[in-house]
Amino acid sequence: MDKVNVNELLEAQAHVWNHIFSFINSMSLKCAVDLGIPDIIHSHGKPMTVAELVAALPTLNPTKARYIYRLMRILVHSGFFAQQKLSHGVQEDGYVLTNASRLLLKDNPLSLTPFLKFELDPILTKPWDFLGLWFQNNDCTSFYTAHGKTYWDYADHDPNLGNIFNEGMASDARLVSSVLIDKCKGSFEGLDSLVDVGGGTGTLAKAIAHAFPHLDCTVFDLPHVVAGLQDSCNLKYVGGDMFEDVPVADAVLLKWILHDWNDNECLKILKRCKEAILNQDKGVMIKKKVMIIDMVLMDNEKVNEENSKTFETQLFMDMVMMAVLTGRQRREDEWARLFCAAGFSHYKIFPLLGLRSFIEVYP
Ligand SMILES: C[S@@+](CC[C@H](N)C(=O)[O-])C[C@H]1O[C@@H](n2cnc3c(N)ncnc32)[C@H](O)[C@@H]1O
Repeated sequence: MDKVNVNELLEAQAHVWNHIFSFINSMSLKCAVDLGIPDIIHSHGKPMTVAELVAALPTLNPTKARYIYRLMRILVHSGFFAQQKLSHGVQEDGYVLTNASRLLLKDNPLSLTPFLKFELDPILTKPWDFLGLWFQNNDCTSFYTAHGKTYWDYADHDPNLGNIFNEGMASDARLVSSVLIDKCKGSFEGLDSLVDVGGGTGTLAKAIAHAFPHLDCTVFDLPHVVAGLQDSCNLKYVGGDMFEDVPVADAVLLKWILHDWNDNECLKILKRCKEAILNQDKGVMIKKKVMIIDMVLMDNEKVNEENSKTFETQLFMDMVMMAVLTGRQRREDEWARLFCAAGFSHYKIFPLLGLRSFIEVYP
């Protein structure tokens, strides 16, 4: 082998190693959250030395104290903590939070910890071991191959999974609702009623109902998800099946619904949504619409060094939808085909929600 080939060979080896061990990023983060490290550093209120961190970890076995700096070292590298000088003239560094770890604090109203706990629960990580087998069998998802039932059946019968799922979704909805209400206010003005289809336990609809007190909001989800949830002044809960019937309203909201399902299933849902807004007899006074919060997958040719991490995260989510559910992430042309097939006339995409977009679809 000449010199260039040797260098290329070693680079290729490093690339393969990096991908063999990439799961360690997720699992190290999960470990730090399980140990409560972000909250402990936050409570400390100033840069925290490794010795102070070790002393503050309530459940740490003393024989493991000397390993904590290694866990912290990889999490500093992945951007979850930073190191700062303790004070002028002192050589020692202390750990501080970054914007990313602030989003994992228990008491942060926008905390993503429930989403992390759901996505990295062993029930959700087990299907990845079965992905290769799934490609060779007739099962609908590798979740089914791993567990012998669909995700929805599992969540229906296991209250623990149902709860961590609902909490994970609610944590995401809290962050999205604060951005949505700030950036897309105009979309809700002029509407009298809105139904949040697959709205879970109602986090997003509650925030919308609070921000727009004149708007009648309905959270529509499977009967066992909304059972026992309390209606309040302009918010009510309705149980049902979105493949059968959707409550009538001026507008329908679908947040993180269509990416769960394949194109045929999405067509059925979109048709039920169209019926729901057209059955609301308001003449032409109100611009009826379906509002979607989901990803618009980047086109391959638009990926560059700057946005390649965003694209990779979108691809991760696409793979999650394939392994766990029957869904997928869609490019704009794939969304457009779906809207047209469901009988909608036009749509507008507002790329205002980071990895996801706010899409309005009109009958
Ligand atoms: C990915 S979650 C999204 C929850 C919520 N929209 C959010 O983003 O926070 C999908 C939701 O669809 C609901 N769902 C699944 N099948 C349904 C059906 N046939 N009819 C109504 N809701 C359904 C689930 O219970 C769950 O709450």
